[in-house]
Amino acid sequence: MERINIAGAGIIGLACAWRLVQRGAAITIFDAREAAREASWAGAGMLAPGGEFSEPSELARLAMASLSLYPDFVSELQEESGLPIDFRRSGAVEVAFTEAEAEALERRAESQDGFGISSESCTYNGHPARCYPEDAVVDPRQVTRALLAACRGRGVDVREHEPVIDVRQDGTAITMRGEYGADSALVAGGAWSSEICDGLPEVIPVRGHLVSWNLEPGVLGSILRRGSTYMLQRGSGALVAGTTKERVGFVRSLDENAVADIVQRASELLPVLGGKAPDARWNGFRPFIEGDLPLVAPVANTRIWTAFGHYRNGILLAPETATRIAAMLG
Ligand code: GLY
Repeated sequence: MERINIAGAGIIGLACAWRLVQRGAAITIFDAREAAREASWAGAGMLAPGGEFSEPSELARLAMASLSLYPDFVSELQEESGLPIDFRRSGAVEVAFTEAEAEALERRAESQDGFGISSESCTYNGHPARCYPEDAVVDPRQVTRALLAACRGRGVDVREHEPVIDVRQDGTAITMRGEYGADSALVAGGAWSSEICDGLPEVIPVRGHLVSWNLEPGVLGSILRRGSTYMLQRGSGALVAGTTKERVGFVRSLDENAVADIVQRASELLPVLGGKAPDARWNGFRPFIEGDLPLVAPVANTRIWTAFGHYRNGILLAPETATRIAAMLG
């Protein structure tokens, strides 16, 4: 039986662990903190290529492929874990407040039509808008909770609060507590990946703030976006809004100006929010690497594989990344 060490128990590491253990591998997965408490916990859960890609690219292709895997991924995961996952083909509405924004939306839609992202012209509160019927939402915290349960149910050894400080070329994970030998290793440490394993491309943490209000369900049906502002409502009623893109390193403290800015932008878009103080606020670190693509690949001349650098789309790309890693490693 192939033994695989995975460094990083976020949505990418856990989804890979699940697919690999299903193929008969023996998996040990490590996380420096509690599992899935970093970017996977912070993410809003937009599965929304419509708002992310203006031009055709390999990343856009992977994102659309992963979105098409999501319904079956969620059904299978719910069944195996016995846990619910709030997943909905909600659609997304991107709103223009100015003529220039409206023209840019139309231009983008024409380009997207050429590579498989369909949208329709619509209006929102009297403003011109574009509707993306294929876009969807998922609660990432429920996905990772279910992945953890499914992995544990299949005997994955989940070692939380055990940071990997190095990965040897033969796949051995070195932690503060000792050495874990294996046949191979997968580095899925999100924004920390290049700290975990020598010689990997540098990952830059790009901090994003989000906020949420506890509202009655049914206030917002689809994803609502304008430029860098987006919001969605979970089945529970929690309405989540974001975001910022900040290169401040791994600074975890909340920036109240960033929070206030999101509240103002979100209230412009959804006036019922009325600038009210949110019930929760948090931030997380997106893993950015140079180039347009996450690094899902073997490291030459080693028994190490990588799955990191998903930047803004880790939740969306998890099913596709896990399928690819399982095909390469399983
Ligand atoms: N996926 C949206 C974001 O990273 O803010």
